[in-house]
Amino acid sequence: MDERYAFTVEWYDFNASLTRRYQFLYFVADNTIEMYDIKNRRTFLKRSKCDSVCLSDFFIGSVINVHSRQLTIVDYADEYTRRQLSEVSERTLAIIKPDAVKHMGSIIDIIHNEGFKVCRAQMVHLTRKEAAEFYEEHTGKAFFENLLDFMTSRPSVAIELMASNAIKKWRTLLGPTNSATARLEAPSSLRAKFGTDGTRNACHGSDSPSSASREIQFFFGMRRQSTAQFTNCTLCIVKPHAVAAGLTGKIIENIEKKGFTISALEMFNLEKANAEEFLEVYRGVVAEFNQMVVELCSGPCVAMEIRADDAPRVFRDFTGPADPEIARHLRPNTLRATFGKDKIKNVVHCTDLPEDGLLEVEYFFKILQQ
Ligand code: RTP
Ligand code: MG
Repeated sequence: MDERYAFTVEWYDFNASLTRRYQFLYFVADNTIEMYDIKNRRTFLKRSKCDSVCLSDFFIGSVINVHSRQLTIVDYADEYTRRQLSEVSERTLAIIKPDAVKHMGSIIDIIHNEGFKVCRAQMVHLTRKEAAEFYEEHTGKAFFENLLDFMTSRPSVAIELMASNAIKKWRTLLGPTNSATARLEAPSSLRAKFGTDGTRNACHGSDSPSSASREIQFFFGMRRQSTAQFTNCTLCIVKPHAVAAGLTGKIIENIEKKGFTISALEMFNLEKANAEEFLEVYRGVVAEFNQMVVELCSGPCVAMEIRADDAPRVFRDFTGPADPEIARHLRPNTLRATFGKDKIKNVVHCTDLPEDGLLEVEYFFKILQQ
């Protein structure tokens, strides 16, 4: 029998200013989809092929791109789908704590290699009040004030992870709470590799399904202020094809190694209208404008504020020529030479003109935040 999953999806229709709901069917064997308009009780899209989606994109909260529309999966539409998929889509909250943010590239790479999916991510700088609320259960313990000092000292990166058995799997990967103990008992764990001591221990992980949902809500239930500095900055976007291929960690690792500071980071799902607006300066200038737009809204991307002296110029140099083939010949040590596929799938967008560095950072970390 055809393996078929059913979901309820929502699409925000900008022209009509309303949210439309559809029943959405996904047939695994031939990667086809079908959509049914719930309100008007009629087929909206006949069963047809859709190469922009695959089974791992189907989980609650996921934003999928169908013919350049961003559809949000809001629920399972039948019991079979719920049973089959809810088990493989357990969520947990991970935090890359302040002492390990400098290693976030390696950590995100490990996250990918261990089979976790990153559903949402944002760099945040916790206030003391927020840290105290997050660690409420430890109020009054000897290490509490020290823990708050640490967690508020610098930004952290909050990540919603998904996998089968995600909560336990992530805690196993973390290793023992104390980094020194971790180095003795679980030398390949994250705390052994990246932790400092008993409190500064590299990463956090939810300890139960109820804390996972509380903690995910804590970080992602509302818009949080970004950590962007808006000075000496340029914008880097890890493009959707590179995020989907699991290259985010490696790309960040390379950026960190080169000495750039990543001072803000967030995963975004761009609407087509936003991708067009952001790339507007290339319209009529670059022949591939339309393909660039389609790529940029084809799935989640990761935007970062990159800081350095003369950031736009220096970072653009490190990114390399837009065409990876040319980059491999002329500038073999650049990001695009190392990871790029073609002129569209060239792994990252970076600000081109020095005077646009701040404007592009503002587009993602101010305008899209509103
Ligand atoms: P987490 O909540 O961060 O995933 O860590 P955990 O479950 O392994 O540890 P937990 O007992 O919940 O403690 C929360 C965090 O408090 C700091 N801590 N310091 N004796 C100490 O100095 C001490 N004990 C705990 C750590 O940052 C720990 O992760
Ligand atoms: Mg804990």
